[in-house]
Amino acid sequence: MALPNKPLGEIKAVRDPEVEEREVDILIVGGGMAACGAAFEIKKWSGDKKVLLVDKAALERSGAVAQGLSAINTYIGENTPDDYVRMVRNDLMGIVREDLIFDLGCHVDDSVFLFEEWGLPIWKMSDEGKKLDGKKGQKMGTLKGGAQPVRTGKWQIMINGESYKRIVAEAAKLALGEDNILERVFIVKLLLDANEENRIAGAVGFSVRENKIYIIKCNTMMVACGGAVNIYQPRSVGEGKGRAWYPIWNAGSTYTMCMEVGAELSMMENRFTPSRYKDGYGPVGAWFLLFKAKTVNGLGEGYVGSEAAQKELQKYAPYGTAAITPTCLRNHLMLFEMKEGRGPVLMDTPSALAEMGGKLDKKEFKALEAEAWENFLDMTCGQANLWCGTNTEPDKKMSEIMPTEPYLLGSHSGCCGLWTSGPDFDWVPDAYKIKYKDKVYNRMTTVNGLFTSGDGVGCSGHKFSSGSHAEGRIAAKAMARFVRDNADFKPAIKESAEELVDLVYKPVRTFLDHCEYTTAIDINPNYLKPAGMTYRLMKATHEYGAGTATYYMTSSKNLEIVMEMLQLMREDCEKLAAGDLHELMRCWEIYHRIWTVESHLRHIQFRKETRYPGFYYQADYPGQDDENWFCFVNSKYDPKAGTWDIFKKEYIKIIPD
Ligand code: FAD
Ligand code: ADX
Repeated sequence: MALPNKPLGEIKAVRDPEVEEREVDILIVGGGMAACGAAFEIKKWSGDKKVLLVDKAALERSGAVAQGLSAINTYIGENTPDDYVRMVRNDLMGIVREDLIFDLGCHVDDSVFLFEEWGLPIWKMSDEGKKLDGKKGQKMGTLKGGAQPVRTGKWQIMINGESYKRIVAEAAKLALGEDNILERVFIVKLLLDANEENRIAGAVGFSVRENKIYIIKCNTMMVACGGAVNIYQPRSVGEGKGRAWYPIWNAGSTYTMCMEVGAELSMMENRFTPSRYKDGYGPVGAWFLLFKAKTVNGLGEGYVGSEAAQKELQKYAPYGTAAITPTCLRNHLMLFEMKEGRGPVLMDTPSALAEMGGKLDKKEFKALEAEAWENFLDMTCGQANLWCGTNTEPDKKMSEIMPTEPYLLGSHSGCCGLWTSGPDFDWVPDAYKIKYKDKVYNRMTTVNGLFTSGDGVGCSGHKFSSGSHAEGRIAAKAMARFVRDNADFKPAIKESAEELVDLVYKPVRTFLDHCEYTTAIDINPNYLKPAGMTYRLMKATHEYGAGTATYYMTSSKNLEIVMEMLQLMREDCEKLAAGDLHELMRCWEIYHRIWTVESHLRHIQFRKETRYPGFYYQADYPGQDDENWFCFVNSKYDPKAGTWDIFKKEYIKIIPD
């Protein structure tokens, strides 16, 4: 249950918080699409087992779907899961886990059917081939019943999705029961079992609404806290500060918390650098796919079809020459134009609307124009505000498109994350199965009893909202089996409650010990505030770690420098200080971000090629080197020794071309 909104001002942190200890069978950390999928599914399979879900925010509006969406980007429908694997493989430049993707492709539509059953309006095609949204669409019947969705691309369907997350959260809450949900509780660390090696046993977190620490023991756990935002200097600074493409809740907690207990990460070198409407971060998918808009360079030329661009794409065949150009290469072409001095890149909205308008009557055109705005209002309303504020009428004025700062995630057009088990089918290679006591548990990480899904699962992007929900359900089933199979397990935590309180509230105590030394609360020789550390991290990655400052270029020397800076930042984190609960959350967020970034850059350092041009470039190793690097890169932090291991893992092709 969410606690009521705070009284005026932030809630002051006290030296000694209350401690609440709990023990459950199944713990779900996160409250986004994947966690809501797990919450909906789990009770059906786990019977009377105790389940608890913990979200740092409020379920109705947390995670990437918070503002709503205007499309569901993964709906298989008339396509096949094999084809879905081929699409994802091509977009991610060849190296993906085909078992995970195929498995997801077999189940994702079921989640879409559920969304519709729970009240999400899905656009439908009429018998005359007209696009019907809202109530009109509902009259055509349900997708499950055979009605045809409005396809934008081969995989995407249109929805009226402003309340998408609320609908999904309501179903999750009803299935799990409000008493089994803790909102506004930030999980800081996972805890290993005291008696058994490499076995999850619990987690510790704190409330951002009251001075209270939660120590939660469990038999099995899913961590689905999304990906990572605000790890690079955003393009939006000054009065635009705070704007980012990716949801601000997701601070790399999934990757950091799992890696800290020794879970293997995979493909952390991969990042997503979305091209978006400049400054407002408005989505481009609907414009490209639904409105069939084209981008032009600053000279007004359609550069994508140019000889130079085609030559550039040839270098990355077969991906570059495929029917759909991979997302990173679309960025690569934009950057090519900009670097050649032919920027900025513009979305030609006037031509697209004029072209479509020519085929429509007046009323239909009005609806189309409304959809152009709604596309933003449904999911990125700031972009609609920006259009208003800059007198942009899309039928008259083009809008700039720009590759944003990088984000780390595993469910959108990126694929970093944890190395997890595939399903237990005979066609799945043994190397892709993770066993505990001889049994395979789908989506379990390399730490026994620890599962993940959505942005957490590496090597299988393009799951999007529907796929993340479906994957949460897949993981939930496996967790229910895990708990049944290991019913006699008694979690035992190594750390005492006092040690955990000392750890979690350390920034509060540092603050209270020293805050009276200076008159300006943020300036003190004995501590530093998380806001300052955030700027430090962003400046370092921006300049050395292939941020926008260098057109996403880094080099071996730059990586060496930034690694040293990260090391210093980690040392300085010991002096983080928090005066209130919000600031305490910021302290732990920046800690999670620093570890996540470090793993990202370690992976880039290890992979001696540029696998994803347009997302990042390693200047010393330009181009792809299939002979040496057509493989996964995995890494593992050893929690006992405090050392990292980074290594290659074989890619196995399952689905033929
Ligand atoms: P999220 O849904 O982001 O959930 C993460 C959860 O973890 C949140 O509840 C957060 O509060 C919680 N959390 C984070 N840290 C902690 C912590 N330390 N302790 C406790 N809780 C924590 N998909 C589509 O299908 N169509 C679209 O049009 C579309 N558009 C998108 C637009 C944007 C801007 C973005 C960012 C994504 C879009 N997606 C779209 C993709 C989709 O939203 C994601 O794939 C999906 O939400 C991922 O699910 P998840 O559960 O992994 O993460
Ligand atoms: S959104 O989820 O934030 O809306 P985005 O706008 O990038 O994402 O894309 C939505 C969907 O359209 C994704 O499935 C993406 O792969 C696809 N897409 C976006 N642009 C293109 C394009 N130019 N060509 C093909 N597919 C595209």
